[in-house]
Amino acid sequence: MNLSVTEVAHLYVSHLTDGNGLYIDATLGNGYDTLFLAQRLGEKGKIFAFDIAPQAFLKSKELLEKHQINRTNITFIRDSHENIASYIKEEMITAAMFNLGYLPGSGQKYKTEAAVTLQALDAVLCNLQQGGIVTICSYVGHDNGEEDAALQQFLLNVNNKRYEITKTTAIGRKLSPNVYLIIKTGRTDEKYV
Ligand SMILES: C[S@@+](CC[C@H](N)C(=O)[O-])C[C@H]1O[C@@H](n2cnc3c(N)ncnc32)[C@H](O)[C@@H]1O
Repeated sequence: MNLSVTEVAHLYVSHLTDGNGLYIDATLGNGYDTLFLAQRLGEKGKIFAFDIAPQAFLKSKELLEKHQINRTNITFIRDSHENIASYIKEEMITAAMFNLGYLPGSGQKYKTEAAVTLQALDAVLCNLQQGGIVTICSYVGHDNGEEDAALQQFLLNVNNKRYEITKTTAIGRKLSPNVYLIIKTGRTDEKYV
């Protein structure tokens, strides 16, 4: 059986959260991760979905409509994910999902950039609750692997007493994408470095 990277990320999120927190889709794209989160959202749960490409919002809303998803608990935010912290008030993040790369069909006009991705990850980690998780689907074929290499370097410097970090990749498959899972095991107020 072959699992796609997004299916691996979905497996992690569905096992580790109960749908009643604040969920961040840091890269809305065509809306598949937001749909996945919305289908598991509890009464108290909410989703903030970020993207910089205008077409991401049209496509995602169409997808949610097709699946008859009530959008009242979903906030669509057309802004770069590096600004995540400015949309969060006192609440902490339960789970954040990143799916790096570009919006299919956008001619690669809107694509994630290593420096911005790391700023967004910094904002997420600073606002992650204890037990909170982050998944990142990262493509080695994108940007000659530069974004993935920068991400791995960043993650190597995260305090492993406060965060558990694993990487899932297919053995023996050339340019296999990576799925990173970060779990905050330390207290909410503890910093990640
Ligand atoms: C691989 S796609 C995401 C796929 C999406 N998760 C889905 O389920 O369809 C990557 C997305 O990241 C978006 N993106 C690129 N840079 C961004 C940024 N700085 N802030 C927010 N989104 C960004 C792109 O516009 C694109 O839609």
